[in-house]
Amino acid sequence: MTDQPLVLGIETSCDETGVGLVRGETLLFDAIASSVDEHARFGGVVPEVASRAHLEAMVPTIERACREAGVTLRDVDAVAVTSGPGLAGALMVGVASAKALALALGVPLHGVNHLASHVAVDIVEHGPLPEPTLAMLVSGGHSSLLLVPDVTHDVRSLGSTIDDAAGEAFDKVARVLGLPFPGGPHIDRAAREGSVTIDFPRGLTTGRDMERHRFDFSFSGLKTAVARWVQAKEAAGEAVPLADVAASFQEAVTDVLTRKAILACREHGVGHLQIGGGVAANSRLRAMAQERCDAAGIELRVPRPGLCTDNGAMVAALGAQMVLKGRPPSNLAIPADSSMPVTQVSA
Ligand code: KG4
Ligand code: ZN
Repeated sequence: MTDQPLVLGIETSCDETGVGLVRGETLLFDAIASSVDEHARFGGVVPEVASRAHLEAMVPTIERACREAGVTLRDVDAVAVTSGPGLAGALMVGVASAKALALALGVPLHGVNHLASHVAVDIVEHGPLPEPTLAMLVSGGHSSLLLVPDVTHDVRSLGSTIDDAAGEAFDKVARVLGLPFPGGPHIDRAAREGSVTIDFPRGLTTGRDMERHRFDFSFSGLKTAVARWVQAKEAAGEAVPLADVAASFQEAVTDVLTRKAILACREHGVGHLQIGGGVAANSRLRAMAQERCDAAGIELRVPRPGLCTDNGAMVAALGAQMVLKGRPPSNLAIPADSSMPVTQVSA
C-alpha cells in the first residue's frame, strides 16, 4: 500500500480547521478542530474569529493528524488545500500553511475546490466514483446539482439555489424556533420527536417555476412561511409545537431536494446519486433519499455524517485523485479565491 501517494489535505474555508491524511483511496486519519462554540453566541460564523482560530489550531491539528495516522511529514507526497470558495481570511490561513508545507517538504501543492472535495470524499468511504456521477451538494453556503464526469477536472452545474442554501434555511428556521446555531443538527433531533402535520411550500416545483428552474432550488419562501406560521401561533396565544414544525419544515426541504436529484439522474441517464455537504448529515434526508433511490433503481452514495460536514479528509481525498490521475499541481503563487466557481476544480 505504501506505493500509493500519501496526501495531506488542509481545509479552512469556514469554521473547521481540518487536516486529513489519505493514501491513494484510503483514509488514514481525519483531524478536526472547530471554532463553532466561539460563533454560537453571535448566531453565525464571525470571519475574524474563524481566521484567528485557524491560526491557533493549524500546527497542533497537523501534528495530531500525523501522529494518529502513524506517519511523519517526511512521508507526505503532496499537499492539498481548499483554495475556495469560502471566507477569504479563513481560506488564506489554510492556503499559506499549505504553501509553506509544500515548499519546506519539496512536494507538489494542489489547490482544490471545496465543493468538489465534498463530492470526492465519498471515494475514501465507498470506493471509486462512477463516471459520470450525479452529485447533490447541500451545505451552509451551497445547494447544487452537479453532473460529474470526472471529479478531478470536469464538474458541470445543472442547477443551484436562487436564494438561501439548504443549510442556511435550517440555520434560519432554527433561529425562529429558538434553537442554537448551527441549527441543522438541532432541527434534525427535534424533528424525531414530531410529526409532519403542516404542509409547508415546496419552492420551484410546479408550473412555470419548475419549467424555468428545473434543477434550481429556492428555500427563502419556505423559511418565511415557517416564520409566519410560528408568529401566527404566538399572536393567537397558542403554544408552538416545535417538534412538529421542525419535522414539517425538514420534510419540505428533503422532499424538494430528493425529488429534483432523482429527476436529474433520470434525465441525464445517470444511475448513481452522491450526496455531500453538511446537510447530507440530516437523518431524514438520508432516509428519504434511500427510499426514493431504491424505488427509482438508482444507487445512492452518502458518506458517514462526519465526512459530510467540513473536514480535511475531503481535501486530501480530492488531492489524492489529482495525483493518481496525473493532474498538474498548482503554482505556489495561487491565491485564496473566496468566490471560486463550482465548475473550477483546481487552482
Ligand atoms: O458543509 P458544511 O459543514 O459547511 C459549509 O460548507 O457550509 O455545512 C454546514 C451546514 C450548516 O448549515 C448546518 O446547519 C448543516 O450543514 N447541517 C445540517 C445537519 N448537520 C449539519 N443540516 C441538517 N441536518 C443535519 N443533521
Ligand atoms: Zn462545506
